[in-house]
Amino acid sequence: MKETIEYIQKKIKDFKPEIGLILGSGLGDFADNIEGVRINYQDIPGFEKSTVAGHKGQLVFGEVLGKKAVVMQGRFHFYEGYHISRIVFPVKVMKKLGVETLIITNAAGSVNKEYNAGDLMVITDHINLMGVNPLIGENDSTLGDRFPDMSEVYNHKLAKMAKEKGMALGLTIREGIYAAMSGPSYETPAEINMLRIMGADAVGMSTVPEALVANYCGMKVLGISCITNSAAGVHPSRLSHIEVVETAARVKDSFMKLLMAVLEEI
Ligand code: HPA
Repeated sequence: MKETIEYIQKKIKDFKPEIGLILGSGLGDFADNIEGVRINYQDIPGFEKSTVAGHKGQLVFGEVLGKKAVVMQGRFHFYEGYHISRIVFPVKVMKKLGVETLIITNAAGSVNKEYNAGDLMVITDHINLMGVNPLIGENDSTLGDRFPDMSEVYNHKLAKMAKEKGMALGLTIREGIYAAMSGPSYETPAEINMLRIMGADAVGMSTVPEALVANYCGMKVLGISCITNSAAGVHPSRLSHIEVVETAARVKDSFMKLLMAVLEEI
């Protein structure tokens, strides 16, 4: 961590990001217009390389609407085979750099039958079904408690504000519970049924490790899912990554508008 922070600070000088953003599938372009410092993950000590096609794999430091931000253009997924501690390492780095608010976006399948592909969902809570907790192992008490409280991982005020901003933009905004599975296989219809009984509204393969660690570090978290598809069994059709990518591309402009509106207000 010490080496990582020294490496980054040498590049960004006295720039101190206050807001962190993790961009999910299809949203990577959001960082393209930010003027600032770009550092490839592969050059940062302690970072893994991002392997998913469509994810760029760099940290972008710069101002967005006058707010000092660090953006993860591409993230690490558990299904890529990394140890869970490597997936959340960038969140700890953000905390050490001064980030107080973390916005996390993702693509997700709908579990709630009322949702449609193209809806945006503000995450109100999560169910961790990845089978692993990123805090397992020795605790760094400079970051957080051994047994952190999880009663408000997703900041209520930020969620409410994001929902209002989305509605003002005329978008279909849902509020719901995100269930995280390890992937990379999509779920079976029986698993989607299970998730629905558990109370989940959407399902995906990311976000929960990062949100969990951000909460542990004392950051405020806002999570937004782009509902890219109906989860398995909701409609009797096969599920493909292509559908996920296509919907994410279709919704991208609205999603970016929402992010800008949220950033302006924060
Ligand atoms: N399941 C899991 N992860 C996903 C899905 C899904 O249906 N869609 C996008 N990410």
